[in-house]
Amino acid sequence: MSIGLFDSGVGGLSVARALVDRLPEADFIYLADQANAPYGGRPGEEVVDLTRAGCERLFDEGASLVVLACNTASAIALRRLQQTWLPGYRKALGRAVNVLGIIVPTIEAATGLPWEHEAERRGDKIEALDILGVFSTPGTAASRVYEIEIDKRRQDVAVFSEPCPNLARLIESGADRALLAEEIKGHIEGLRRRIGRHPDRAILGCTHYEIVADLFVAALPEGTPLIHQPAATADALALYFERHPELDIGAGGARRFLTTGTPGLQSALIAEFWGGPVTFEAA
Ligand code: DGL
Repeated sequence: MSIGLFDSGVGGLSVARALVDRLPEADFIYLADQANAPYGGRPGEEVVDLTRAGCERLFDEGASLVVLACNTASAIALRRLQQTWLPGYRKALGRAVNVLGIIVPTIEAATGLPWEHEAERRGDKIEALDILGVFSTPGTAASRVYEIEIDKRRQDVAVFSEPCPNLARLIESGADRALLAEEIKGHIEGLRRRIGRHPDRAILGCTHYEIVADLFVAALPEGTPLIHQPAATADALALYFERHPELDIGAGGARRFLTTGTPGLQSALIAEFWGGPVTFEAA
């Protein structure tokens, strides 16, 4: 049995890196739906269907838990799949399986509050507003998940999303870092123009962007704190596995990388991020 990770492409490797480092003995299987990437501009129903197919594939390969290492799939498909598909599928499969996303741990990290916490009193005097910028795909931005869930918990945090329509595709194709730096600078400037100043903190709300987090750091005002989803997710999952010993996550330290697209060696950008070459097998 193993931990499955799913993304439209290479972005989820940022989450995989943090999880592998945190749980080195667990067995991991990663599936990139590169034949259908990017997800960020797709209609919601397609994202739901593709995400379900990815989860089924990973469960077929022996995953006990699938982590949607993709904001777009987590924002658009996760709740639907948990409510309408997973219970029946679990019964048919006859073993303990689950699907989790990466937005809950990110919101916990951004608010400093557990997910269960909802603000009790509205209308309290707010001394200072904390401006939080979220860089994401258009699909995640349109879902308004960060605005809605953070507002439920912290009225002193104002969330502004900046959709970046081309960035995941550029990272997916292994684009040159100079080109990526220009694209990122443009989005940071776009957000600044829209809200009249730079954000106090930022979330890289697309797992692809973590691959080039250093370019965001360089383009944001010095010292702007970033909330890192991979680290937040690894922390949350390590606790989750302690509470769920029924989920068998293996102990052989295996790592497999599958793609629905063209198998083979991933870009130099990915090798640099991962700390060595990453080769995908055909799914
Ligand atoms: N890495 C993904 C995310 O976190 C998907 C990007 C895309 O396919 O558009 O949203």
